[in-house]
Amino acid sequence: MTKKPTPSFYLCDKEIRIFDPQERRYEVPLNVHKPSRLTDISDCDYTVSYVKEPFGLIVRRKSTNTIIFNSAKAAPLIFADQYIQIGTVLASKYLYGLGEHQDKFLIDINWTSRGFWARDQAPRVNTNLYGVHPFYMNIDKHGNAYGVFLLNSNAMQVDFQPLPALTYRTMGGVLDFYIFTGPSPIDVIQQYTELIGRPYFPPYWALGFHLCRWGYENSRNLKEVIKRMRDSKIPYDVQWNDIDYMDRHLDWTYNTKNFAELPEIVEDLHAHGQHYIMIVDPGISNQQREGTYPPYDKGLKEGIFITDSKGGKPIVGRVWPGDTVFPDFFHPKAFSYWHDLAEKFHKQIPFDGLWVDMNEPSNFVSGSEDGCLYNSLNYPPFSSPAILGSKLFEQTLCPSAHQNLSSHYNLHNMYGYSETKITAMSLEKILRKRTLVISRSTFPGSGVYGGHWSGDNHANWDHLYYSIPEILNFQLFGIPMVGSDVCGFAGPTNAELCTRWTQLGAFYPFMRNHNNLHMPDQDPAVFDEHIQNAMRQVLLIRYSLLPYLYTLFYNSHINGTPVLWPLFFLEPNEETFTIDQQFLWGNGLMISPVVRPSTFEVKAYFPEGSWYDFYTGTKIGSTGLYMILDAPWDKINLHVRGGTILPIIEPDVTTTASRKKKFGLFVAPDTQGKSKGELFWDDGVSLDSIKSGKFTHLIFMATEQNVTSQVLRSGYTLAAGMYLGHAIICGVQKCPSHATANGKPVKFQCESTSQV
Ligand code: NOJ
Repeated sequence: MTKKPTPSFYLCDKEIRIFDPQERRYEVPLNVHKPSRLTDISDCDYTVSYVKEPFGLIVRRKSTNTIIFNSAKAAPLIFADQYIQIGTVLASKYLYGLGEHQDKFLIDINWTSRGFWARDQAPRVNTNLYGVHPFYMNIDKHGNAYGVFLLNSNAMQVDFQPLPALTYRTMGGVLDFYIFTGPSPIDVIQQYTELIGRPYFPPYWALGFHLCRWGYENSRNLKEVIKRMRDSKIPYDVQWNDIDYMDRHLDWTYNTKNFAELPEIVEDLHAHGQHYIMIVDPGISNQQREGTYPPYDKGLKEGIFITDSKGGKPIVGRVWPGDTVFPDFFHPKAFSYWHDLAEKFHKQIPFDGLWVDMNEPSNFVSGSEDGCLYNSLNYPPFSSPAILGSKLFEQTLCPSAHQNLSSHYNLHNMYGYSETKITAMSLEKILRKRTLVISRSTFPGSGVYGGHWSGDNHANWDHLYYSIPEILNFQLFGIPMVGSDVCGFAGPTNAELCTRWTQLGAFYPFMRNHNNLHMPDQDPAVFDEHIQNAMRQVLLIRYSLLPYLYTLFYNSHINGTPVLWPLFFLEPNEETFTIDQQFLWGNGLMISPVVRPSTFEVKAYFPEGSWYDFYTGTKIGSTGLYMILDAPWDKINLHVRGGTILPIIEPDVTTTASRKKKFGLFVAPDTQGKSKGELFWDDGVSLDSIKSGKFTHLIFMATEQNVTSQVLRSGYTLAAGMYLGHAIICGVQKCPSHATANGKPVKFQCESTSQV
């Protein structure tokens, strides 16, 4: 049966706006790709109807008659200035998204609530965290998915009830809903990212292993870590620095005493095919002598900083450098301001990407050094009880502070988004290459510019597990480049936890080991040889699979397909809906990590079909069942889905070195003996490789007898060529007597027991 083409957002998805026709209200300054024309919706799989009393708006999926939005049932519509309430029923209890929160992937709707207000808060359950994403996906009993996005950036609360239903209470703006009818979960994410913008395409090196810590303290220590990592031959692409590289924690400076050798260290990283990323915080010190600190002087002159609501002076908070002011990244001159600072600094330290932290924005004093005025923005009549602390200005700026486009009250949740956007645009102009911007605070659309990490997790097993729902949620949010601090940030890690976390982290889209100040070192090279061996082994596996991961990122950039999938994207059923300890890379590779201490087996679900052990190639036939798998301390279970061909490459200590090696294929036939796969390949860094066609795109197909490739495009001309070094072919029923490649005999081995 041929699948009907995914309906385009422009044609079929639905925007519902409830606003005040008399008075213009604040609306979210996000350039969404709105439906540009009225189209004939008779082909679309929904109908819309209204009820008058009590007012209700009902959206039904035509083909199944399922109600996917009904505002008449859950809570009455209230539209007041600083309190807007609307509820809707859900098609089922299978609800996902609505972040950023630390929780299971499946949302518990049994009279629970979530608050939405960007907050510098180390992850913990039942708390609003760094980012805000008012988007959910719900799956009905027919297995059809739909998505609902409320384009509203105000402080918000969502209450869930088992009806199943939910109620939004937002503290401003308008109600601007977008409903995506799917019908598959992948369709929903593609439709959502068509609206908010497709995820950015990371450079190839950004998929390598990243190493960071707070507290290297000086060049000597940093050099020592780089050296021991290189000596250990553990794959490692990117070295980072936290705020301790700075001079007195001042942005766009480095400590020329302790980190005098930083420029040479970065040169040396580059000479070894490695990359360098450093942190920059939004808070700009206002305590430096006039004429000595351009980030402040220039910003002040250009009126870049967020001002207080009294006299239009920059609002002063406190962050690492002491008293600070905060650039308004929505200011029309913000780009040139930030770009110029970055460009000048780049001449001193040639960084390859930036880490934008503390951008909720975080503030160590409540509101400002002068507190906050008593007004309706700082003390609104309704303040969501689901938001940590009782006040909106806790640990951030006064909501009544002025930004160029509106009050901070309205724009707070977009602060991280605006900084990420300006930073990525600046870097693109400076580097003229693809880069990596990792942001702590995110909002819909952040994925267009960069990635995210889950902030200050703890070095414990719970946080290792919660990283999986976190990275799955960010796939829904259109930010596939996501990870958690591998081995844990806060508190000391230990060898077992760090080994298991490195195994799991090797399958995060963004893999960085990062550590808190004063904690013992936790880079792989600091551990005993046998631990290092286990870490090296899994990193080599990651590096060998990067052509596949890169191709997934290409597809995510082109059409929004998520990079990581929960199992129910492949096989939606009552069992898979709750699974969040396993996940997939695309639809081809299943990862079943150990997430508990002293555990040497995992109970893993296998969706229906054939699966192949990545290590041995042996086949598991499944009708949709659980299996107990051995999980010795030095192994993570990986299975390739029958029907897949994974493009792989010979790994090395950096992606730069590995990219010069030969490719391979892992061929995993389905029950009919067939499989297929693809490879996207370019120079890994050019901004325009897709647009200008400087890429190679291959499709692989296999039957029981042969593996063929089709060249969709061969626009990437590599002097050394692209070579296929080997192919692992699983499920070979009978060992052949000979094998050929392009018609010529080749060496081969065949194992009749494993059928590889
Ligand atoms: C908070 C960040 O979440 C953490 O990763 C970083 O190490 C510290 N800030 C210091 O910059």
